[in-house]
Amino acid sequence: MNILILGSGGREHALAWAVKQNPKCDRLIVAPGNAGIAMLAECADLNILDGATVVGFCEENAIDFVIIGPEAPLAAGVADATRAAGILTFGPSAAAARLEASKSFTKEICAACGAPTAAWARFTSAEPAKDHVRAQGTPIVVKADGLAAGKGVIVAMTEAEALAAIDDMFGGEFGAAGAEVVIEEFMHGEEASFFVLSDGTHALPVGTAQDHKRVGDGDTGPNTGGMGAYSPAPVLTDAIQKQAMEEIVLPTIREMARRGTPYEGVLYAGLMIDQGRARLVEYNCRFGDPECQVLMMRLGAQALDLMLACAEHRLDEVRVNWADDHALTVVMAARGYPGAYAKGSQIRGLEELPEDSRHMVFHAGTAARDGQIIAAGGRVLNVTARGGTLREARDAAYAMVDAIDWPGGFCRRDIGWRALAE
Ligand code: AMP
Ligand code: GLY
Repeated sequence: MNILILGSGGREHALAWAVKQNPKCDRLIVAPGNAGIAMLAECADLNILDGATVVGFCEENAIDFVIIGPEAPLAAGVADATRAAGILTFGPSAAAARLEASKSFTKEICAACGAPTAAWARFTSAEPAKDHVRAQGTPIVVKADGLAAGKGVIVAMTEAEALAAIDDMFGGEFGAAGAEVVIEEFMHGEEASFFVLSDGTHALPVGTAQDHKRVGDGDTGPNTGGMGAYSPAPVLTDAIQKQAMEEIVLPTIREMARRGTPYEGVLYAGLMIDQGRARLVEYNCRFGDPECQVLMMRLGAQALDLMLACAEHRLDEVRVNWADDHALTVVMAARGYPGAYAKGSQIRGLEELPEDSRHMVFHAGTAARDGQIIAAGGRVLNVTARGGTLREARDAAYAMVDAIDWPGGFCRRDIGWRALAE
């Protein structure tokens, strides 16, 4: 079959890498793609936020199946457009993607279906929000309601921080995303990510992971899109996964179906685990980046079969073939990230690295110039390895990192520390 993947990051490189290994995949196109993706698939430059453009491209290229990577095209309704055109699609409708696009919508769904989450209140102006913070005390969490590229969340340890965050959000720092502000109870515990495919009715867990959001070793410095990840997440024991399915994920899927907006795609539940129980931090309507890289490294070619079963509403007929393995990815970023960084520095040494079912450098933000690979983004490479133990995976990933010659880049040296310390 002919398959189109939308997106251009490490997540989409990992999706393409897994899909390409499946014999069902004949032609693979990634739009817009990047320099790493171009080594295994065709890349096409098109406006992936415009449903009509994507449908037109699918028709011209006889695309049988579309996999939508990032949240922006989902929130823009690209999955609605492709489904309406009769094209098999992996990714939720715009109405279902509100589980990521609006934090207050997610809270309403949790309230309607009884899913455990932090206590919360919604505000449309600063003064009542500030009164609420003064009444509740700290720590407290202040969130811009809409999509803010992962940056609209302030975990405030002091009242002054919380009040300043409220002023910033209503002052327009996050644009339209901050027109409404959600203030939440601070949840203690350990965070982990739980990935579940939903075809609207049936649900199938496809893996757990933990990422590292802070830029610096020891979880210090500013927040980023994620500096590394590993799978599985030991904190998400079988018992806690079962509880999360029964109390959070399945009730959400049933509530979305009941409202006439069934959830079809991957539901990424960010969970806080405390005293043996999970509560929901947030939903995302896509695979995590870089979590997808470790999930795909573990699932391999079967990822395509699972996504197809999801799109064809027959998730009850498939199962995941798990290996007893671990995967870990280290993000190499351009110096300065997540602040200002330079583009265009040259990366050497990639050709000599192993590329097989246990080792892969996924490209997140690269371009090709005169036959050389150059950095073209903040997060640039996802150096990923798999092993029988997490330690083995970690050592293999860092051995690859050390063989990459890129003076313009840096990475955290402690990915996996929490799980390895246990
Ligand atoms: P979100 O974008 O909602 O995932 O929030 C980003 C990060 O902020 C989460 O991954 C958590 O680390 C933290 N966070 C969000 N909400 C809470 C909460 N209610 N309690 C504690 N930490 C939170
Ligand atoms: N790594 C976090 C995310 O994809 O949202």
